[in-house]
Amino acid sequence: MKDVKIVYWSSTGNTEAMANAVAEGVRSAGANAELLEVSEANAADIASCSLLALGCPAMGDEELEEGEFAPFFDELEPHLSGKTVALFGSYDWGDGQWMRDWQERTAKAGASVINGGIGLIANNTPEESDLEACRRLGAELAEH
Ligand SMILES: Cc1cc2nc3c(=O)[nH]c(=O)nc-3n(C[C@H](O)[C@H](O)[C@H](O)COP(=O)(O)O)c2cc1C
Repeated sequence: MKDVKIVYWSSTGNTEAMANAVAEGVRSAGANAELLEVSEANAADIASCSLLALGCPAMGDEELEEGEFAPFFDELEPHLSGKTVALFGSYDWGDGQWMRDWQERTAKAGASVINGGIGLIANNTPEESDLEACRRLGAELAEH
């Protein structure tokens, strides 16, 4: 069975809800999903998996969360070449710039970003249509 690791950071639960839906999609496609908060993830372990879903909301000024997620991603980045990656996260008042920057950075590291290279974003609390898109994202990842 294929293994997919889903690593996320979430303060108020919005990106967490997206992560749970991604996991449902992975499982519905017949793959194994391991869901981890970034505080319990080890970048070296994560780097051993070829199918990854990474979730982080827009924080700072259109940035990845700086305390836990950004250091994790900095460590993972040199190991992303050849991996298949799904990106997702919630935002509020911005226009998704943090995700455009993140998807570009991930692609430059040599990963294939699914969903046509586009990270999946949801405004604040994900609606049912956003969760459905997360499930599709998880299923797409599991089919690689
Ligand atoms: C300190 C802080 C900085 C934020 N910066 C941004 C931002 O730059 N752009 C944006 O669109 N939303 C920003 N937000 C809003 C969050 O991305 C939004 O509340 C999101 O739903 C949080 O997701 P979570 O529930 O997974 O933590 C910020 C929120 C906080 C608390």
